[in-house]
Amino acid sequence: MFFKRRLGAYVGGIFGFYCKEPRSLRDIKTGLKRLVYRGYDGSGAAYLEGGVLKVVKRPGHVDGLELPDVYVAAALGHTRYASRGRVTLENTHPLLDCGRRIAVVVDGVIDGYEALRDELAAAGHKFTSTTDAEVVAHLLEGADPAALAERLSGMFSFAALTADGRLFAVQRGQPLVVAVSGSCSYISSDIASLYGFAEEAYLLPEGAYVELEPGGFKVRPAEGGQQPERKRVKELLYAEKAGFPHFMLKEIYEVPEALLRTKAALMEKYLRLASMIVQGAKNVYVIGNGTSLHAGMVSSYYFADVGTPVDVISAAEFPHYALENVGTGTVILAISQSGETSDVIRSIRAARRQGAVIIGVTNSVSSRLAIESNVYLPITAGPEMAVPATKTFTSTLETLLILAYYVGLHTGKRSQADLKALAERIDGLARALAGSMQSLDKAAEGLADRLAARGAIYVAGSGIVYPVALEGALKLKEAALLHAEGIQLGELLHGPLALASRGLLVAVLRPTDKSAADLYNKALKIASERGADVLTVGPGGDMPAVEADRELAPISYAVSLQLLAYRTGVKVGAPIDTPPGLVKAVTV
Ligand code: AGP
Repeated sequence: MFFKRRLGAYVGGIFGFYCKEPRSLRDIKTGLKRLVYRGYDGSGAAYLEGGVLKVVKRPGHVDGLELPDVYVAAALGHTRYASRGRVTLENTHPLLDCGRRIAVVVDGVIDGYEALRDELAAAGHKFTSTTDAEVVAHLLEGADPAALAERLSGMFSFAALTADGRLFAVQRGQPLVVAVSGSCSYISSDIASLYGFAEEAYLLPEGAYVELEPGGFKVRPAEGGQQPERKRVKELLYAEKAGFPHFMLKEIYEVPEALLRTKAALMEKYLRLASMIVQGAKNVYVIGNGTSLHAGMVSSYYFADVGTPVDVISAAEFPHYALENVGTGTVILAISQSGETSDVIRSIRAARRQGAVIIGVTNSVSSRLAIESNVYLPITAGPEMAVPATKTFTSTLETLLILAYYVGLHTGKRSQADLKALAERIDGLARALAGSMQSLDKAAEGLADRLAARGAIYVAGSGIVYPVALEGALKLKEAALLHAEGIQLGELLHGPLALASRGLLVAVLRPTDKSAADLYNKALKIASERGADVLTVGPGGDMPAVEADRELAPISYAVSLQLLAYRTGVKVGAPIDTPPGLVKAVTV
């Protein structure tokens, strides 16, 4: 099976160095910018200058962090996701102890910190923030860091830089890597961020304590003696924008390549196993949130086509409304690109307790979803940095379609020849998308003014592309901060058109089922007559899409809507990759 390691969610990013020769403090910002997908509610750095521990920090995105132009031997930075405490300067990391001699940064969540905080406050410690992280700084006053970690519960990692020149860290469930290059050693929350700093890095096992030295490090592994795992640092391509102004645009342009990679990486034996499980199930729930939920909704058409109906439900609703139907024989198909979304993890745990079998579909092979599933299918879209999901949506759709075909082999609705033809159709779509991406992008750019000027947008779709309409509306909310709503095409006439004369724009997805042609024409006519601004989406439409058959149309239409949302976001000047209040994996 794919290798498994327990790693946590994105609740902050840590980046630090310790060198023999001083280096630019601003290198910390380079590292933090690559970790911004882990949070962008605040950023800062602690460093040693002339034997004094100094801290610079600010709330908000790391792009705005101004680090002084100084050369230092040791520095430790952080980019924050505000899971405990509001977005304020005080709550931004690093956080200091009472004597301002220990600067601490934390990734993750420390459970039950309130009691520790009360205890420390009663003992005279002065708190300046409302974070869980500050507890660590005060506990470190006089305590052995490795032993201290035992007093804390939750999934976290922390690192600390002290005025007497120590830089150490503890891994308790959130990822940490260390590396050495020349006379410098590094610590970071992920490997990709180390590109250009070091050529190989070591993943710390859970429970490890590490002490960095100039050009070296010492690890005290956890009980059980698990050793750090060596990895090559090579993933920069994903962590850099490579000339694109935003990650979102880069990742849309990567859709064709990701589609090919997904197909190549899905392993037949796991597809066979997963399909046998689905086919033999008493009942199947497909769960996910947001974009992953929309992918799940499309999959209900794929599974119905091969004679295996499934129930699709938001992972946020599932534990409250579906558990009574879960037992031995139930299969949960859990979709999460990050594999860390709390609603999904909570749902699969509850379902498992009741005897369900879990199939995970995720882009992260080291995620909790991958680890806790009975079998999982990696979508292998490559890391996605922008919060608005794009290539992971299309690769998830592809994975679910291929899985449905494997189920079809059991139900007799699909043959090996169909499977082979599907592979060729996917190749064809990937080629067509790659060849049309720039013209689609141009078309989206040309329409962006029209969308940006509107107060309300409906995205209407029918049948298998209805969930894509929901997804298009979600992308407009995230990337362009515009109010948009996905609706079923036929529902346009049952209320939404009341807004027709009040600046309403309706983006109508051309249906893929011939039987819906009438509905489409009627909706277009009535909406225009009532004064709505109607924009058609699909092959030959105002917003064109690459021609695709019914099963692949959701992928093709999704790309067109992603570009439309992106270009509208550019037009309105939205913070496209990092929408306010959102983070890549919702874990709180
Ligand atoms: C997608 O653009 C959104 N950022 C959001 O809806 C996301 O799909 C949702 O939070 C689920 O994330 P997951 O796939 O990582 O579980």
